[in-house]
Amino acid sequence: MEYPNPDSKSAALYGRAQSVLPDGNSRTTIALKPYPIYIEEASGADVTDVDGNRFIDFNNNYTSLLHGHCFEPVRKAVEAQIVKATACSFTTEAEIELAELLCDRVESFEQVRFCNSGSEAVMNMLKAARAFTGRPKIAKIEGLYHGSYDFAEVSLRNKPGDRNGSAPISTAYSYGTPDSVLTEVVALPFNEIEATESLINLHGESLACIMIDLMPQTLSMISPSEDYLKALVRLTRKHGILLAFDEVISFRLGYSGGQGMFGIDPDITSIGKIIGGGFPVGAVAGRKDIMSVFEPQDGQSPRLPHGGTFNANPITMTAGKAALQAMDEDKFDRLNAAGHQLRQQVTEIIAELDIAAQVTGKGSLFSVRFHDRPMRHFADIVIDEAENLFMDKLRRYLIGNGIWLGGNMAGCLSTATTQTHIDKFCQVLKEGIVSQK
Ligand SMILES: Cc1ncc(COP(=O)(O)O)c(C=O)c1O
Repeated sequence: MEYPNPDSKSAALYGRAQSVLPDGNSRTTIALKPYPIYIEEASGADVTDVDGNRFIDFNNNYTSLLHGHCFEPVRKAVEAQIVKATACSFTTEAEIELAELLCDRVESFEQVRFCNSGSEAVMNMLKAARAFTGRPKIAKIEGLYHGSYDFAEVSLRNKPGDRNGSAPISTAYSYGTPDSVLTEVVALPFNEIEATESLINLHGESLACIMIDLMPQTLSMISPSEDYLKALVRLTRKHGILLAFDEVISFRLGYSGGQGMFGIDPDITSIGKIIGGGFPVGAVAGRKDIMSVFEPQDGQSPRLPHGGTFNANPITMTAGKAALQAMDEDKFDRLNAAGHQLRQQVTEIIAELDIAAQVTGKGSLFSVRFHDRPMRHFADIVIDEAENLFMDKLRRYLIGNGIWLGGNMAGCLSTATTQTHIDKFCQVLKEGIVSQK
């Protein structure tokens, strides 16, 4: 495939899109210059664009497709549901079934509340923490992405120097964010226990929750250290703060999510992506006493009223149930073994080419970086300009050679990914590195 190709159908569609859609799309995270690629159809790990080019998909709609595209059990379940009811102002049994499935699998999930995206899930998790504790502030980790709620975006744009001593500065991601948002969010330095402890001790009484992601994509899938997580557990207990996991991505790490893999039960969790079987979804799950903020009490309205025209819509509930029912513990183990295999093969290529690079990630998630310094703290992990340029060129090489990966060279596998796909990925990656060096 030739990319960019000004004579392609994708280029023409983008030209048309720009007059009616800002930047020609509805999703900053998929923008690709000079034009995005328009998809015709997708099945399993294969995607075909409108020009007939084929790609092996290692992005899986930003990790949300556990089984790749058009997974037969999901398709059949949705086809059966679509003729029954698609969206209605009634509840359905499918909502109960998906909530039961999730609560059966995850120790810390006593109740679930559904919404339509990971961003909404994070927003509702933070609002639930405030409503439950009666405290105004939240703490989050510098540089971590949690969707588009303005409180959750704080410090996402930080650079390593954005510090006041050892404390990260709370900065806005979107222009127009009110300063009041910044004062209500305490940014914590990733994996820096002492500095985090002093910040929590300083703000402890006004903090509703500390939010963390166990596999942060913006930090190249580097997990927080065991000691850091232990410190967060200790500090949240000490100050009566809720421990909030954003598992919108990391939930795909195992049968009981990332929290099962790490052996820590948070108080409250946001999930999304894989639990919708490919359809728009989000959910908050956690302890029953916390989740009771969504419940009317003594004839009064809930402490956290939460409507949503499409919450728990039957198509998503049915698709999510079919996707998750197809994953038992063995299937998660097999998917994670395939992820291990890919990381192993990439490590071998790095050794063979004798370049400064490394592959990170866990389970079915991976990210490739082009330096060999240890990555522990924010400043070590942040991508510098030269690496960014190299990765962008390499990604374009991969796209041109039929491998579809997100920006920052981060990707994931699905149950549709075969050893042949992994071998092809590794072969193209190797050729791409050699040709760009
Ligand atoms: C950790 C994390 N939280 C929240 C979100 C937001 O989810 P959504 O894009 O469904 O709104 C994302 C999206 O990638 C994410 O990675």
